[in-house]
Amino acid sequence: MVIVKTATELKLLREAGRLSAEALRVGGEAVAPGVTTREIDKLIHDFIVFNGATPSFLNYEGYPASSCISVNDEIIHGIPGDRVIVEGDIVSIDVGAYLEGYHGDNAATFPAGKVSAEAQRLMDATREGLEKGIAAAVSGNRIGDISNAVQTYCEERGYSVVREYVGHGVGRQMHEDPEVPNYGKAGHGVRLVPGMVIAIEPMINAGDRHVRQDTNGWTVRTADGSLAAHFENTIAITKDGPVIMTAL
Ligand code: MF3
Ligand code: CO
Repeated sequence: MVIVKTATELKLLREAGRLSAEALRVGGEAVAPGVTTREIDKLIHDFIVFNGATPSFLNYEGYPASSCISVNDEIIHGIPGDRVIVEGDIVSIDVGAYLEGYHGDNAATFPAGKVSAEAQRLMDATREGLEKGIAAAVSGNRIGDISNAVQTYCEERGYSVVREYVGHGVGRQMHEDPEVPNYGKAGHGVRLVPGMVIAIEPMINAGDRHVRQDTNGWTVRTADGSLAAHFENTIAITKDGPVIMTAL
């Protein structure tokens, strides 16, 4: 069931979203050769808690950290740990903050030092694919219009779209209806109305679209070992167009 939010709820979601965006910035600024993913997660955790919120991911279905940090061929749900980031890595950070009863959820892929032209091109296409999806998040459109916009843009650039994981509604729960796939048919799916809040989050592979789950039960990698990127914003559908809740 899709929960349409009131104006009061949208204000609270904006505050949770802003804090989530600030936490993502804190994490992104820490990405550098020589830093461990655990150190980045601790900065994110402490920032969220210092600001009176709770990390949305911590203990979610047993998840053991405050952020997901996924490096290179890791697509999503990388568990922060002893891994040391090296020059040329691309580092996807996904983080949410739970504030005053509402969640924010956002992600971005950051370069560590100087990265290859191919890595940069993948990150750019994934960020731009998200922007295309957001532009389609207009009242009267359907979820499939968002999905198709992301898919078309990324596939035109030679990349593939992960199917097994999708975006989602955001509210009192981190994951609400509807599902927001990054692939699909324009004109299909749930109709978008003002007050809907959704996370759009393309997970894009440089190689083929298939994924492989790590034995740790969480980390999802590209099956072919190719690079992957992930960008996510929580957005609200309004009568005046999409509003990014996870803007700074
Ligand atoms: N943030 C992810 C999403 O974008 C969910 C993370 S799962 C968790 O939907 F277990 F790490 F929290
Ligand atoms: Co999400």
